[in-house]
Amino acid sequence: MGLAPHAASSSASQHPAAPDVRVRRAMPRDLGTVVKLRLELLREHTEHPIYGRLRADARERAAELFGAQLLSDAEVMFLAESGEEIVGILRCVESIGSPLLEPSRYVYVSSAYVRPAHRRRGVLRALLREADAWGRARGLDEMRLHNVAGSGAAEGAWGALGFDVVEQVRSRRLPGTD
Ligand SMILES: CC(C)(COP(=O)(O)OP(=O)(O)OC[C@H]1O[C@@H](n2cnc3c(N)ncnc32)[C@H](O)[C@@H]1OP(=O)(O)O)[C@@H](O)C(=O)NCCC(=O)NCCS
Repeated sequence: MGLAPHAASSSASQHPAAPDVRVRRAMPRDLGTVVKLRLELLREHTEHPIYGRLRADARERAAELFGAQLLSDAEVMFLAESGEEIVGILRCVESIGSPLLEPSRYVYVSSAYVRPAHRRRGVLRALLREADAWGRARGLDEMRLHNVAGSGAAEGAWGALGFDVVEQVRSRRLPGTD
C-alpha cells in the first residue's frame, strides 16, 4: 500500500511525538534487540494467513537475515529509545519501482512495531519522522507499505500518518494443497 507523495512527512511532523523518546539508527551490535522486536511483531499476528505461519527455526533465520539487513547500504532500521529501553522499531528500504512508472525508487517501510506499554504516545510518529528524513536525504519522495488488514491499530496509525490505501494484497491457498 502507498500514499500520496509528501502526505506522511507533513502529517508526521505536525503532531507532537513522544517527548522522552529518542530515535537512532540500529547498528550491527543491536542485532539481538532487532530480532527480539521483529519476532514480537510477528507473534502479534498468529492468526494471520501470512504472518501466522512462523517457522520453528525463525529466530535463527532472523538473526542471519536481519544481520545482513543491518549491513546493507540500501536500507536502515530505526530504533526508538525511552530511558534505557528500546521501545520501537521501523525499517526502511530504498526500493525499485516499475521501469514503466514514476518514481523509479521509493521508500518501502516495514517492521513497524511499538512495545504495547509504549503505544499511543507518538513513538511511531517519532520513528516515521526519521524515516522521512532518511528518504528525503536519498532523493526519494514517496513511501509505501503493506499493513495487516483488519488491524485497528495499523489502519488507524497509518491513516493518521498520511498513508492512503491504494492497493490490496489478496492471498489464496491452491486447491488440493490443504
Ligand atoms: C501500529 C503501531 C506501530 C502504532 O504505534 P504508536 O507508537 O502507538 O503510534 P503513535 O502513538 O505514534 O500514533 C500516531 C497516530 O496514529 C493513530 N493511532 C495509533 N494507534 C492507534 C490505534 N490503536 N487506533 C486508532 N488510531 C491509532 C492515532 O491517530 C495516533 O495519534 P494520536 O495518538 O495523537 O491520536 C503500534 O500500535 C503497534 O506496534 N501495533 C502492533 C504491530 C503493528 O500492527 N504494526 C504495524 C504493522 S503494518
